[in-house]
Amino acid sequence: MKKRIFSGAQPTGELHIGNYLGATKNWVELQNEYDSLFGIVDLHAITVPQDPAVLRKKSLDLARIYLAAGVDPDISTIFIQSDVPAHAELAWVLNCIARMGELERMTQFKDKSGGKSERASVGLFTYPVLMAADILLYQTDLVPVGQDQKQHLELCRDIAGRFNRDYGEAFVIPDPYIQKAGAKILSLKDPEKKMSKSDENLNATVFLLDDADTIMRKVKKAVTDSGTTIEFDESRPAINNLLTIYKLLTGKTEEECVSDFEGKGYGQFK
Ligand code: AQP
Repeated sequence: MKKRIFSGAQPTGELHIGNYLGATKNWVELQNEYDSLFGIVDLHAITVPQDPAVLRKKSLDLARIYLAAGVDPDISTIFIQSDVPAHAELAWVLNCIARMGELERMTQFKDKSGGKSERASVGLFTYPVLMAADILLYQTDLVPVGQDQKQHLELCRDIAGRFNRDYGEAFVIPDPYIQKAGAKILSLKDPEKKMSKSDENLNATVFLLDDADTIMRKVKKAVTDSGTTIEFDESRPAINNLLTIYKLLTGKTEEECVSDFEGKGYGQFK
């Protein structure tokens, strides 16, 4: 029997190349080898306020993007999370297994609540438990995600292990699948931050539906570090990020990428 993968994205905005290189591209590469489920996780999206009509439209747009990115509906299952009530039902059960203390340690909650946790929704706080339910419901073996979801995956494994220990073997303990290159594509305007759908600076994020001129403009305006050479160097996150994007989109090796720009400067590279 094939092993199973589950992953998803929120219909909170357009997907960007971070979502694509960190997650969706890997789904496409893995879908032939694994029994694959890809959710449009609208219940996660409502942890912050949404316009219902817009959310419905964005959910369908996201399905189109999955198809355009190469998810094959003949071999993979694409579905909207809220169409399957068991996600919310299992989330409730797992809410009774998860501990307040472990949820309080989740860095995404701290980031997304902007330090104002009293005003954040309880849903935003328990978001990782719903994510655990999404994964555990399908006895998932592998979860291809970006680096930002690693902590949530660890929590999911802890919750599943605790449930199995206390109530008998019920859940497969899933493994994360996080590629080294692409797992954290950075903002083009602030390489201290990850690229994000909700970044207020529209030049920080390259959306999959941006046209060629817009992408060119955003790349040309991308911040660069001190130094002039075009090399992979983790101590220069801005150029490292741009080269990583180039490498993943061209399918070239690091050596080939560097040799393409040997002796050239930022002007020619961008
Ligand atoms: N910058 C990124 N680099 C690599 N992978 C990323 N992912 C998100 N940002 C990056 C991965 O994309 C998948 C789907 O993410 P999501 O829709 O759940 O959104 P998110 O993680 O909350 O990230 P966004 O796109 O920045 O949205 P907002 O602005 O709404 O928070 C996940 O596998 C994620 O790891």
